[in-house]
Amino acid sequence: MYVRHLQVTDFRSWEYADLELEPGPAVLVGQNGQGKTNLVEALGYAATLGSHRVATDAPLIRHGCARAIVRTAVVNEGRELTIELEITAGKANRARVNRGPVPRTRDVLGILRTVLFAPEDLALVRGDPGERRRFLDELLVLRTPRYAGVRADYDRVLRQRNALLKSSGHARRAGSGGGDALGTLDVWDGHLARYGAELLAARLDLVADLGPHLTAAYAGVAPESRPATIRYRSGIAESFPAEYGTTGRADMEVLTDALLAAMAAHRDQELDRGVSLVGPHRDELELTLDAFPAKGYASHGESWSFALALRLASYELLRDDGNEPVLVLDDVFAELDRRRRERLAEVSVAAEQVLVTAAVPEDVPSELAGARYLVSDGEVHRE
Ligand SMILES: Nc1ncnc2c1ncn2[C@@H]1O[C@H](COP(=O)(O)OP(=O)(O)OP(=O)(O)O)[C@@H](O)[C@H]1O
Ligand SMILES: [Mg+2]
Repeated sequence: MYVRHLQVTDFRSWEYADLELEPGPAVLVGQNGQGKTNLVEALGYAATLGSHRVATDAPLIRHGCARAIVRTAVVNEGRELTIELEITAGKANRARVNRGPVPRTRDVLGILRTVLFAPEDLALVRGDPGERRRFLDELLVLRTPRYAGVRADYDRVLRQRNALLKSSGHARRAGSGGGDALGTLDVWDGHLARYGAELLAARLDLVADLGPHLTAAYAGVAPESRPATIRYRSGIAESFPAEYGTTGRADMEVLTDALLAAMAAHRDQELDRGVSLVGPHRDELELTLDAFPAKGYASHGESWSFALALRLASYELLRDDGNEPVLVLDDVFAELDRRRRERLAEVSVAAEQVLVTAAVPEDVPSELAGARYLVSDGEVHRE
């Protein structure tokens, strides 16, 4: 797949920008702060409905504007589809596909797939577990878009269940028993277990599929280092077979029962604290070098290699599925040493389309010197 056209209005620093693109490598060059990352961030948004830099939409809208618009045309096996997204602060966003409105913005997911490498990726290794859960879920949705719905359902049920735990906990402490509320809680346990098991099964299968790619990618970028592995760590891991997440396919029923049992076992604690203590929202993707967790042990270079390997593995996995994504390399070459630069260039040059941003063109390996776009003073010019 490749992006043929990108147009943004009032997105970040851009009042308006319009780029025609082709398959193969394209390099966006320009001095710091000229808006290169903003452009690839817009593409990433069309692929994931999120930004790799911020957790909310508000910063994406140009200062003083009410809404931002991202339009893109994507060609997949000869068929072109257009996506239009209107991002509005504090209101529901809107989406169109081929100019026709779609009921939910998440209906655009799957039209464009991107794998983005960026300096922020270091947080995949060094950051909180939430960063790694987000990484997994984003990849899951790129692979199978319907999981965006499962994720949304799970989050909604989790919020409602937490609210109920809080109010029932209060009632219990006030001595009013809260018998009715506890009955309602059983119903929410059922919902949480069902969506939770679906999400958990999908993540376990994803990690089983991603693991070998990750180990190979890490060995490729850091052959002098120790072997890298990933493992999904679930709070209920003792209640399902250890092959889930490595070789075996996870069984939804087994996981549903395990989640229900865990909720029952934690009920008192959950009522005391007013939060849900078990489920995929508490799980972790463990990154390991030899026997050591990468977080806290890996050197700076090893951490970078691990982050890079996670992205390379994602790319290889999507490609294996037959869904080759667009590669986006945001300012990464300047951060890498020669060997890792070469390895990344080797992989990228084989991609159907790769978009690279750099402040100085010398940072971009010569294999990737394709179409060049100059970004400066609020304009993009093809050289
Ligand atoms: N919502 C916004 N409204 C207006 N300007 C914004 C907004 N968000 C970011 N900017 C501006 O965008 C600029 C940064 O753009 P961007 O990150 O794309 O730069 P870049 O070309 O990638 O630079 P570098 O080479 O340093 O990575 C900053 O000057 C910032 O102030
Ligand atoms: Mg940048």
